[in-house]
Amino acid sequence: MHTLRLLSFLIVSYSHVFAAPASSDPCATIAGKLFALPADVLACERSLPFNETLRQNVLTTISRVFDFYTFENWYLDSPAPFQESTNNIRANLTRINTTHYETDYDFNIDMYDFTTQLNDGHTRWFTNCYTNWQNILPAPFINVEINGTQGVYIAPDSVDFISLIGTNYTDLLDGFDYQRLAGALVKTIEGKDPYDYADFVADTVSGNYLDHGVRVNSVFSSYRISGTDFSQRLGDLGESGPTGVKQTSLEVKLITAKSNVEETVSIPFIASFIGVAFTDQASYWENNCAANADTNGVDLRSSGSTRRSIDNISRRRLAKGNIIDKSNDSAIGLPPQFVPTAPQVDGSEGVIKNFILPDNQTGVMFVGSFEPDDFDQFQADTVAAISAFQNAGVSRLLIDLTNNGGGFVCLGQFLFQYLAGSNIGYPGFVSTNRANPLAQKIVAADIALGNDDTITFYSADNWAFLNDTQMPESFDYIDPSLPFAVNTVNEPTSQRFHDTCQLSFTQTIPEDPPFPIENVAIGNCASTCAMFSTLMNERLQTKIAVFGGKPGENVEFKGMAGNQVLEWADIDTEIKTAGLKDDPLAPPDLLVSGDFRHNWRTAWSWFNESIPIAFLSELPKLRFPYTLETYNDPQNLWIFA
Ligand SMILES: *[C@@H]1O[C@H](CO)[C@@H](O)[C@H](O)[C@H]1NC(C)=O
Ligand SMILES: *[C@@H]1O[C@H](CO)[C@@H](O)[C@H](O)[C@H]1NC(C)=O
Ligand SMILES: *[C@@H]1O[C@H](CO)[C@@H](O)[C@H](O)[C@H]1NC(C)=O
Ligand SMILES: *[C@@H]1O[C@H](CO)[C@@H](O)[C@H](O)[C@H]1NC(C)=O
Ligand SMILES: *[C@@H]1O[C@H](CO)[C@@H](O)[C@H](O)[C@H]1NC(C)=O
Ligand SMILES: *[C@@H]1O[C@H](CO)[C@@H](O)[C@H](O)[C@H]1NC(C)=O
Ligand SMILES: *[C@@H]1O[C@H](CO)[C@@H](O)[C@H](O)[C@H]1NC(C)=O
Ligand SMILES: *[C@@H]1O[C@H](CO)[C@@H](O)[C@H](O)[C@H]1NC(C)=O
Ligand SMILES: *[C@@H]1O[C@H](CO)[C@@H](O)[C@H](O)[C@H]1NC(C)=O
Ligand SMILES: *[C@@H]1O[C@H](CO)[C@@H](O)[C@H](O)[C@H]1NC(C)=O
Repeated sequence: MHTLRLLSFLIVSYSHVFAAPASSDPCATIAGKLFALPADVLACERSLPFNETLRQNVLTTISRVFDFYTFENWYLDSPAPFQESTNNIRANLTRINTTHYETDYDFNIDMYDFTTQLNDGHTRWFTNCYTNWQNILPAPFINVEINGTQGVYIAPDSVDFISLIGTNYTDLLDGFDYQRLAGALVKTIEGKDPYDYADFVADTVSGNYLDHGVRVNSVFSSYRISGTDFSQRLGDLGESGPTGVKQTSLEVKLITAKSNVEETVSIPFIASFIGVAFTDQASYWENNCAANADTNGVDLRSSGSTRRSIDNISRRRLAKGNIIDKSNDSAIGLPPQFVPTAPQVDGSEGVIKNFILPDNQTGVMFVGSFEPDDFDQFQADTVAAISAFQNAGVSRLLIDLTNNGGGFVCLGQFLFQYLAGSNIGYPGFVSTNRANPLAQKIVAADIALGNDDTITFYSADNWAFLNDTQMPESFDYIDPSLPFAVNTVNEPTSQRFHDTCQLSFTQTIPEDPPFPIENVAIGNCASTCAMFSTLMNERLQTKIAVFGGKPGENVEFKGMAGNQVLEWADIDTEIKTAGLKDDPLAPPDLLVSGDFRHNWRTAWSWFNESIPIAFLSELPKLRFPYTLETYNDPQNLWIFA
């Protein structure tokens, strides 16, 4: 250990890039650790100097990607009830260009906070250097109704959750007795009413969902599926969201379960590392902060093997609509006593878990994600589950979408189409992208070069006309553009088009719904998942229920419903594959490791084709508080529903 540290000091002392003297390398202190004290992590992160070249690089890339962002002008005056997200994006970029920053951290966190507070999980700056460490509090907060009154508590089972994080974590708590806080009633957090503090975290930290009520729900702990396993999300308060390590502790006034005396406790945060191993400051920068082989896009014309296979649907580029939840990277399991015990039926190996409830009448599909490892298997699993339910004589279906962060756009459409039957027709939304000058050049170049849907998202054969005939590759759907205005700003769009998801359906769709559509879907889900639940609502008037939320405040069932998201590397790949990287409008390659993702397509509502579904308020038909029996126990919640 000692020799390793000495060696790493030696390397740092040869580096001219970093100002910190080698003998006090603050990154060496936390090197090799999976968990560390937030103050130590912050010292490492803030030791990296501000660099004007990097600011200009990141800002130029981000501002040119914003040209493609379909909601930019909606933000100038966001319609109610989403008005709190209103933001002059260009004014903020100018502010960030002229602010004096002490460190590279300060610059990146300002950009991170600004994009996070747009509350659009599709449009965010993830600076890997500073999001690779995430705070975890040994006290997951829950929002439950007890004896008819809703309140904020520390989860009674918190010891079961926290011990799953492991002794590397609990050892760092240095004797702090987190066990005795289990079940405590919370009176104030940082001196505020706990619901006011939840509002504050929802406004500043949570991001991801346009609706404030859904963000409040994400502040608290709830169950989910991570990968293919049941898991517990500790909540943005318990993890301080993906903000990194700003806070070292949280001051909470509470009454423990075993006492009736109010006391104030300072609960320590411990930071968890989800990045690439390093030994010192220089290697922290090299492995976690500098651009790597995956940061930027590639010219797909040069990788011959993926070209020209238009007949092979599995090789189309697959559109995604998802959020990034950094808390998933250090996910813990659901304590075994909360994993459903009802008989599980076929099709449950992947991201969908299927059960028959004890009444033998109700089938439950817990759809944890639309982003499985295997696109076709998700479809096969859906068919297997529905057949198993039918064979078992189940007469109604309940779909749980809790914490489903979205995934492949076409799997959302597949599940909708399978449940609604083929007679319903087109299973998606009318869609457009932004007709900015560079986008028009890309489509024109793709046509000239013969680029098709196997290597681009922009080429016309990705889409269909509104009569569901696939567009020919040579069709220019973005020039001429369609006039449109948002908040009095001209916002020309492409022609309106449909998705072509049916080309990637590998299962036969029944003509009629396999179950009467008086199903209940359960909310708090994003992106492709929110598009799915919006289709259920707009096309089938499905009964949708939402659990939780702050008493007296609405909760939408769709957290955030953009449409297709492009990661930075995706839009850069589009530009490079169209041969336009040298265009003066093209964003430069990033010099740092990060992702500026953006919502690239709008889905227009079936209710009003002038409004993106993201900005249309659609409230659930039913709303229930969580209880001690349901907040972390999916089966109890399903039986209640
Ligand atoms: C700033 O970053 C650029 C790009 O990585 C690098 O070439 C330059 O040396 C850095 N400037 C300083 C003062 O470290
Ligand atoms: C604890 O951390 C060390 C590295 O610091 C690692 O080798 C070990 O596997 C970790 N233990 C557990 C249980 O995760
Ligand atoms: C930041 O401001 C400077 C000075 O006005 C300007 O030269 C530069 O282009 C701006 N950077 C970006 C990314 O807009
Ligand atoms: C800039 O963004 C912040 C959120 O980070 C927001 O509070 C502020 O209003 C924005 N500024 C402008 C001019 O819109
Ligand atoms: C709820 O009511 C029961 C019965 O009146 C009581 O024993 C219990 O302490 C109450 N719980 C809380 C948290 O108020
Ligand atoms: C969440 O984490 C699990 C386990 O590491 C992983 O299998 C899964 O792909 C992740 N899901 C997302 C949406 O990132
Ligand atoms: C389609 O692609 C898969 C793998 O990418 C390959 O195994 C299969 O042979 C292809 N089918 C056709 C018809 O080209
Ligand atoms: C449901 O089916 C199981 C197994 O066939 C049976 O044991 C149970 O009694 C049934 N429950 C009801 C409520 O009919
Ligand atoms: C669908 O619409 C396109 C564009 O208007 C048209 O060219 C095509 O002939 C139509 N297809 C059918 C089958 O009507
Ligand atoms: C549809 O939305 C637009 C834009 O908000 C609005 O002006 C129009 O009145 C709406 N139409 C209907 C039928 O509600």
